[in-house]
Amino acid sequence: MNPLLQTLQPYPFEKLRALFKDIKPRAGFSPISFGIGEPKHPTPAIVRDAVVNALGGLSAYPATLGSEPLRQAIAAWVEKRYHLPAVDAATQVLPVSGSREALFALAQTVIDSRGAGPAGAAAERPIVLCPNPFYQIYEGAALLAGAVPYFANSDPARNFACDYSAVPEEIWARTQLLYVCTPGNPTGAVLTLDDWRELFALSDKHGFVIASDECYSEIYFDEASPPLGGLEAAHRLGRGFERLVMLSSLSKRSNVPGMRSGFVAGDASILKSFLLYRTYHGTALSTVYQTASAVAWQDETHVRENRAKYLQKFTAVTPMLAEVLDVRLPDAAFYLWANVRRTGLADTEFAARLYADYNVTVLPGSYLARTAHGTNPGEGFVRIALVAALEECVEGARRIVEFCRSLAQ
Ligand SMILES: Cc1ncc(COP(=O)(O)O)c(C=O)c1O
Repeated sequence: MNPLLQTLQPYPFEKLRALFKDIKPRAGFSPISFGIGEPKHPTPAIVRDAVVNALGGLSAYPATLGSEPLRQAIAAWVEKRYHLPAVDAATQVLPVSGSREALFALAQTVIDSRGAGPAGAAAERPIVLCPNPFYQIYEGAALLAGAVPYFANSDPARNFACDYSAVPEEIWARTQLLYVCTPGNPTGAVLTLDDWRELFALSDKHGFVIASDECYSEIYFDEASPPLGGLEAAHRLGRGFERLVMLSSLSKRSNVPGMRSGFVAGDASILKSFLLYRTYHGTALSTVYQTASAVAWQDETHVRENRAKYLQKFTAVTPMLAEVLDVRLPDAAFYLWANVRRTGLADTEFAARLYADYNVTVLPGSYLARTAHGTNPGEGFVRIALVAALEECVEGARRIVEFCRSLAQ
């Protein structure tokens, strides 16, 4: 067996299952889950119909490069969404089977596991720099690529921005890949142009690749100010896409997590190697879904309707929870990242007791982060995914308020 498999951590939901194992929720409350960050709005008719109409495509093997119409649709979307002059559909975009597999596969493509170090000297293992808290795939991708993850803790005092200035030079020197998540899971924080300026300067100096996970980019609350993307930042700062790729997905944007459709865009030379890797890995998106995805990327009406539903939920729920927890509307995405310290409970205790007393599931923040530099930056927080219908979210929030008030008595 590959010994690196032993280095993988249990997934947050496995930890949650273990936490809840011996708990029987109090009778009289229907289950409400804010735990899993999985979109639950119905898939829009335009996408469902496109899938049905494309079923004839099942008789053909899909091209790993993706169909020409899909690449054209993605390139056009990227140009429009990020105000870019021209994105080359042939070399600067690549459809993938959801951003998760692409985030993983990218590390296998980019990392030189022989490591860095002066010629002749024993090479040191390469580093993959990850935000903390983070989406666990980054860590697994790093470990299985033979790299060592290094965590940059998010700072609640700076809207959960990661403290890259605290990363030592010798770590940067070994860094081959940096994952960023913007809007972030779980904090919802969006990287600013200044953040990007800093990251590009570091990448220029040390030569690492930046993979920008932007799968929540279309869930935001002000129609007039969509979150800044990595490619957009590069363009606004007068650069090309060297050493930069962004990953996007239809899962959240179009409520099709089951379709497994996303794309990677950016540096053509990285995408060339990535395509080579992928032809062997064999993860081409089904022809049926390629056709339906092209339709989804060309329509914004269903995406605006989707956003409106999230806005309604955040508008109803955030002020309710703000009465009992330290929480506010995030920059974007569909999570509330709530500080529960004022209840006097640890995040795990909070989640366990809320489940026991009110049958409401939230995810302890410490399960989404690692202890690094003497602290677990997820500790004291819970992640509340507002994915269910409005009424269910409001009822869940009402129970959380009641639960917190019961603790104060
Ligand atoms: C931060 C982040 N990135 C990527 C993904 C993967 O999304 P998908 O593979 O559906 O595109 C998720 C899914 O929850 C996520 O939270």
